[in-house]
Order: sequence, then C-alpha cells, then structure tokens
Amino acid sequence: MKLVNNPPPMKGVLICGGSGTRLRPLTKVTNKSLLPVYDKPLVLYPLQTLLDAGMQDIIMITGTEHIDQIASFLGSGTEFGCHFSYKVQDEPKGIAHALSIAEEFCDGENVCAILGDNIFFENLAEKICSFQKGGHIFLKKVSDPERFGVVELQGNKVISVEEKPIKPKSNLAQTGCYLFDNRCFDVIRNLAPSARGELEITDVTKWFLEQGELCASVLQDEWIDAGTFESLHRAAIQVRARKKEVAEDAKEMGVKSVQEKATV
Ligand code: DAU
Repeated sequence: MKLVNNPPPMKGVLICGGSGTRLRPLTKVTNKSLLPVYDKPLVLYPLQTLLDAGMQDIIMITGTEHIDQIASFLGSGTEFGCHFSYKVQDEPKGIAHALSIAEEFCDGENVCAILGDNIFFENLAEKICSFQKGGHIFLKKVSDPERFGVVELQGNKVISVEEKPIKPKSNLAQTGCYLFDNRCFDVIRNLAPSARGELEITDVTKWFLEQGELCASVLQDEWIDAGTFESLHRAAIQVRARKKEVAEDAKEMGVKSVQEKATV
C-alpha cells in the first residue's frame, strides 16, 4: 500500500528478543512472539502492521536461543513480498539496546521499530508512511498505565514521558511502535542503563521530546501488549471475535474470501 508519493526511505525493525519472564513457563523453551494468539503466532500481528505500511526491508532482532525458530518460521520474506534480515541480541539489555543492533541495517534511513508482543488493531500505515523527521509515538488510553511508558499530553503536545511510573501522570500508554529518524542510533549510543539495567526506549523518545521533535497520535481502536497471561488471553479472544464478525459480514454479503477483509 503506497499512501504517500515520496516518503523518506524507512526500514522496519521487529524487536522480539527478551526473556519473556512474565509468561513462564510458556516461554521456557519458546520465544514469546511465537506463542499462539488464536490462529497464528503473535509475531505475525506486529509484522502485519509493518507490511500494511508497505515496508520492504525488515530486520528481526531476537536472542541467541530463539533466532533459529524465528528465522525458520518467517523465512526470507518472499512469502510476504519483502525482504527479511535477522540479527542476534546476545543479552536482553533493553529495547533500545535491541534497536541499536539494527543500526547498520538501517543505513542512515528512518526507522519504524515495533515490539514483537504488540498487537495493533488499527492500521498505522498513514502515519508511518507520512513520517518525515524527529520521533512519533502511538498512545492508547489504558486502565493500568503503571505497566507501561506513560505519556502526558497538553492538547496534541507531548509534555512528559516516563517509563513505568509509580504515580502515572496520565492514563495514556506509550505503545510499542516507534518512528524515529536515524539520529536515534546516536541517542542510544549515549544512553546510560536504567535502574533495572536496561537501555530504555522511553529514553530515546524523551530525547526527541527534549529537542521539541516528538509527535504523538492517540489510537482509537484496540491495542494489546500481549506480554502477560491475561493480555495474551484477551488478545486471542479479541482476534477470534473480530474474525467471526468479518466472517459473518462476509456471509451476509456473499463474499467468498473473508481473509482480505480481516483487520488483523
Ligand atoms: O508494550 C508497550 C511497552 O513496551 C511500553 O509502554 C514501554 O514503554 C516499553 O518499555 C515496553 O515495556 P515492556 O515491559 O512491555 O517491555 P518488555 O520487556 O515486555 O519487552 C517488549 C518486547 O521487546 C518483547 O517482545 C521482548 C523485546 N525485548 C525486550 C528486551 C528487554 C528485546 O528484544 N530485548 C530486550 O532486551
């Protein structure tokens, strides 16, 4: 799908390493992003978000223990009409650290980084394709903001970003899709590890905020971070319900292929 005539070149980075501790024992031998969400593995949902935006070159970053499974599942990208690369994150040193591994691959271009456990029911293609410079994040109103990066807005303007605050200043979670220009890699090089010993992606968005170059869009449709038992289960229920709805609509309209109409 080409929504903008001449968008700046952009690379996709799918971040699916980490240790998945919150989902043990499901993740004892399996990567979180290969766990089933109703009828397909979790990783296919964030991948679809990148594909919907017409991304041609996508790199998967994952840990040493699961790179073979992920590569054998996703392959070269031919099946999806694009090109996949793979790189290993030796240790789970944070999402920003995982992103830094994609620097060479991104080769000076803009970046759309997405977390392997995030499901977006909304199509982000328009925002992704029109991204030019700075940083752009996607927010969603949630009832448990302390679980996430939390963003404070004044009108459309981002005022603050905090990673998992004890006292959240808003109920807007920073979702796991990040648009950055290539300066993000210089920013990560200069980051110090957080109290939990990780290079935080929130510190990258904070840097763009400090430059006055961070934009945000609030999602209207559902978004799920499927990183807990509850949210993984909710994701499966949500996907099933939507598929059923699409199938029923199609039946009513006499459409044969319901696949084409499914949101996710
Ligand atoms: O889902 C949105 C949230 O994701 C944001 O609101 C937070 O700001 C952001 O920090 C992140 O929080 P989580 O606690 O959910 O991140 P988690 O550790 O679950 O990692 C998210 C994905 O990134 C997951 O698929 C594993 C991958 N990952 C994580 C780490 C720490 C890596 O590939 N390497 C890593 O070192």
